[in-house]
Amino acid sequence: MSDTTSNQMWGGRFAAGPDAIMEAINASIGFDKRLAAQDIAGSRAHAAMLAATGIVKASDAEAMREGLLTVLSEIEAGEFEFSAALEDIHMNVEARLKTLIGDAAGRLHTGRSRNDQVATDFRLWVRDQLDAGEEQLLALLRALLVQAEAGADWVMPGFTHLQTAQPVTWGHHMMAYVEMFGRDLSRLRDARARMNESPLGAAALAGTGFPIDREMTAEALGFDRPMANSLDAVSDRDFALEFLSVASISAMHLSRFAEELVIWSSAQFRFVTLSDRFSTGSSIMPQKKNPDAAELIRAKIGRIFGANVALMTVMKGLPLAYSKDMQEDKEQVFDAADNWLLSLAAMTGMVGDMSANRASLEAAASSGFSTATDLADWLVREAGLPFRDAHHVTGTLVALAEKKGCDLPDLSLSDMQGVHESITEGVFDVLGVHNSVASRTSYGGTAPAQVRAQIARWKERLG
Ligand code: ARG
Repeated sequence: MSDTTSNQMWGGRFAAGPDAIMEAINASIGFDKRLAAQDIAGSRAHAAMLAATGIVKASDAEAMREGLLTVLSEIEAGEFEFSAALEDIHMNVEARLKTLIGDAAGRLHTGRSRNDQVATDFRLWVRDQLDAGEEQLLALLRALLVQAEAGADWVMPGFTHLQTAQPVTWGHHMMAYVEMFGRDLSRLRDARARMNESPLGAAALAGTGFPIDREMTAEALGFDRPMANSLDAVSDRDFALEFLSVASISAMHLSRFAEELVIWSSAQFRFVTLSDRFSTGSSIMPQKKNPDAAELIRAKIGRIFGANVALMTVMKGLPLAYSKDMQEDKEQVFDAADNWLLSLAAMTGMVGDMSANRASLEAAASSGFSTATDLADWLVREAGLPFRDAHHVTGTLVALAEKKGCDLPDLSLSDMQGVHESITEGVFDVLGVHNSVASRTSYGGTAPAQVRAQIARWKERLG
């Protein structure tokens, strides 16, 4: 059909076609063609149900099924001609079906509307992204566990305010991210369980008088059950928002880790070496090896969280039920999903390939008075000082070491006794970083024994 006549799907009451600008603002086919496979799956389930309930003849349903499969293969082969005049994926598919199978195509839309159709398609698409995200998170968790296990007892500085705080183990640091991405995984699974209900059959907003079987279509599409309220089914996009929330929080975790990798791979730190496969060079400075993947992961949170804010804003003032505003739900979710999954894959690749520099980690762990707290704790335990006094004495010793340009273990016993007479030779045992980490045996602490117990727990969980 030509673009100047009225729309072949809904044009009955229209004498003229839309203005070019109207078509430009109205058409979503430019992006919702990504829902083609889901749209055709939904239509196939609907067609089979229409036949099973006797709403259409079995021969018509069979024609629909075959026609839909043909449309799908045309789209997959890149042979399908999408038309902006047909607005969106739903009408593009149906129009092509009509060309292929004739009048039977016109019966497909019995007992449904584009409103429940798009809600179904989009749910199926988001569900696929959650499933892909689950796989990616599992791969990342496994890569982190390998790193943690290799360096369960390697010491490194732990930081607060990015200032050396107390020694920790490399394994402990890796396992902190395992906990974070593990919670992302659990959030993702919660979201999936909640969203897995079928809107199909809610029709335009009120349900339908045709004797449809919503259980049947729900089951065919892998949903746990049909949604219980037709107004809700066509109106809400909270499933997409939950997906974006899961992705945003996880992208925030990715971004923090990426930031650490950028710092750690610098010449000043040398904590890790990133592989050539996940680094780039500079076109002018021959010595450079840049952590671009980490930097890009650090930046991706912007668009992912932006999508979350954008969709929340689209939805926040809409009266029930469907409004065309909701067509604006897709592009940003597509973009966020693509970039989140890519970030997860890039992080998994980087973690899998990177090597931690054990010697640099240990050297850094031993500097910056990282065992000052161990010294204060020793004064409490062995010399009976109240913690506040021990803190003060230790501070004086740190100042003394700073003045002498050395670290705490380099002070002589007489230097120490000059600050507090009850200090004995035994103090040197706790000033070493290995003793320090080994002593932090509280549940969840950095002692290698604790870290290994957590690694074992996670390995069992992931199977
Ligand atoms: N392209 C539309 C969307 O994405 C499909 C639903 C249209 N429904 C309607 N009542 N105009 O939201």
